[in-house]
Amino acid sequence: MVNPPHLVADQNPVPVITIDGPTASGKGTIAQRVADHLGWHALDSGALYRLTALAALQAGLDAADEPGIAALARSLDAQFRPGKILLAAQDVTDIIRQERIGNLASQVAALPAVRTALLARQHDFRQTPGLVADGRDMGSVVFPDAPLKIFLDADVGVRAERRHKQLKDKGISANLDDLFQDLQSRDDRDRNRAHAPLVAAAGAVTIDSSRLGVDQVVQQVLDLWRNH
Ligand code: DC
Repeated sequence: MVNPPHLVADQNPVPVITIDGPTASGKGTIAQRVADHLGWHALDSGALYRLTALAALQAGLDAADEPGIAALARSLDAQFRPGKILLAAQDVTDIIRQERIGNLASQVAALPAVRTALLARQHDFRQTPGLVADGRDMGSVVFPDAPLKIFLDADVGVRAERRHKQLKDKGISANLDDLFQDLQSRDDRDRNRAHAPLVAAAGAVTIDSSRLGVDQVVQQVLDLWRNH
């Protein structure tokens, strides 16, 4: 018997919504909210790169040591708990959000062996009833068969201001101009690297959140899912 087109034998039946986009576009918040609404799992793939960067820092590895960092990534002792991320049983939820860790994550993420090392771990998050995955290459590389792919963009000035407010709310002082420069250089590195660069995946729907609130973007994604 021939499989109907929507049930090809090797197709993974667990649906995935991918949300890719540049730094501070709000994709993490949106992905978690959409996952909560649907009762699905969430994958914050950026956290895996941040954990790898932190582990490399703690091990005293050079940011260009590709085999060394890939080995760390493969054996990363990471646990994702509600609202909490542990690395080797240490609560690193706040540490990995620091800008210096984000920058280092962007550097280690450019190493192909590190990306390959994290691939299987990301696939493991695909469990019933569904997954909302956010990052840079969720739709293009990690879950290319996802039935709904979103590219969440926002003006770099708006993103710098949002990041500034987030940090201020946490009591961390930051300079807006420095944040702007930082976001631009991370965007450049993430967009222009040779392996799995930040791009809108084929078939992705682009949402520009520059003038939209979180609730409006969440609603747009849920509407797209209902009508996909
Ligand atoms: O989304 P984030 O800011 O937490 O990600 C931190 C860095 O990790 C980002 O600058 C690039 C990298 N990253 C990646 O290369 N691929 C992903 N799927 C997610 C993040």
